[in-house]
Amino acid sequence: MKIAFVASEAFPFAKVGGLADVIGSLPQALKKLGMEPTIFLPWYMGIQGYYVGESQLSFEGRSEPVGLGHLEHGGVRYVLIGLPDFARERPYGYDDDFRRFVRFSMAVAELLRGFEVVHAHDWQAALLPLLRNLGWFPGRTVYTIHNLAYQGVWGSQDFYAWTRLPGETYYGAGLEHRGTINLMKAGIVNSDRVTTVSPSYAEEIRSPGFGEGLDGVLQAQAYKLRGILNGLDTEYWNPADDPYLTHSYTAQELSPKAEIRTALLRELGLEDRLTLGVVSRFAHQKGIDLIADAVPGILERGLNLVLLGSGEPNLERAFAWMATRHAGRVAYQQGYNEGLAHRIYAGCDGFLMPSRFEPCGLAQMIAMRYGTPPIVRAVGGLKDTVRHWETGFLFEHADAGGVLWGVDEFLKHPNRLEVARNGMKTDFSWEAPAREYLKIYQELQR
Ligand code: ADP
Ligand code: GLC
Repeated sequence: MKIAFVASEAFPFAKVGGLADVIGSLPQALKKLGMEPTIFLPWYMGIQGYYVGESQLSFEGRSEPVGLGHLEHGGVRYVLIGLPDFARERPYGYDDDFRRFVRFSMAVAELLRGFEVVHAHDWQAALLPLLRNLGWFPGRTVYTIHNLAYQGVWGSQDFYAWTRLPGETYYGAGLEHRGTINLMKAGIVNSDRVTTVSPSYAEEIRSPGFGEGLDGVLQAQAYKLRGILNGLDTEYWNPADDPYLTHSYTAQELSPKAEIRTALLRELGLEDRLTLGVVSRFAHQKGIDLIADAVPGILERGLNLVLLGSGEPNLERAFAWMATRHAGRVAYQQGYNEGLAHRIYAGCDGFLMPSRFEPCGLAQMIAMRYGTPPIVRAVGGLKDTVRHWETGFLFEHADAGGVLWGVDEFLKHPNRLEVARNGMKTDFSWEAPAREYLKIYQELQR
């Protein structure tokens, strides 16, 4: 069965968060099950692909050429969509992101012949199910919500001048939401199946507290909504064979982890104490501000804290300041750093993730796989992947008190080594989840 994956990120070519990990590894697992996946990705600056020719995009009533690239990675074929507005430093974060990804989706739609299933991911590809319904390409559609907080909203009617789609689609095909264009809603309404990345998040988003204004829509479409827990690329995230680490270790032979820990603390100038790690986007979702509030309590309990991440400037500044004020106890590294991320997952004693909401979360799974018990808020995919006192620690309250309650559970546990081992022995691979996607694709063929 030929499956087209359409997304804005794929590791190792373009990564902002977990979406990249998923697109970079689920297709490989599907391939092992006999599927033929092809990934359609914007041709961002720096991606080395073979130029194979061009197609056409009709935008604003004019036809323009789209450069096409190919590459193969891990046995999976990529088609790179070369539009001039994607040759920029970062994947997103620009004022014209909405327009850029509408163009990307329309350009991809022109290339989707011969696929049984088109699997679109997040708002950046959410226009595709509607284009299928308008007859732009054949096949069935699956739409996966990785994060309901980013919806692809556009307040003006430019959209119709750009796309020349029939005006009836505004109300008639679910593009309109509260007086604006909402691509996320259109993806949900127009696809044959909707999935999200954990069973708990699939439940949560049908309620106002987590629905980001789309809970009513999701309730109405609940018959086709399912939660499938993400897996990890367990070959890439593997403490027994990780080129970013100076030592390898396993659940049976954990002692080399201590060497990695010592080197990490030295590298960051931290005292030799129990150390909690954070690797995260600094977004409201992740509750980084709750960690900031909890810092005095963390220090009072004798722990160190190390954070790697970037995002909201106020949070970046707050932690840069704390790292100076509490030198030796708090370390902060701003930015994206693959190698340091691996060393934090491996070298810390615990991993902190106090998310306000979490569709799935991969960071806590990576931490468990590296024998670093996570302390997480009991929400979404975090509560579906972490078992309290067995593989990590769960807390309820989204405030500093909640975080510290979780930290106290961690400190109280009589055998943290056992918790670490349990986490390392848990199966976080794609094997089972890939089969669930396969089942959906097969159902759609009947
Ligand atoms: P989200 O997708 O919401 O950001 P996930 O936990 O699903 O959260 O995935 C985050 C991914 O991004 C993980 O692979 C994590 O290691 C990685 N990551 C996040 N911030 C950084 C950073 N500053 N440097 C390196 N990797 C990071
Ligand atoms: C989103 C979510 C995260 C999830 C990732 C991959 O970025 O925030 O929870 O793990 O997508 O599905």
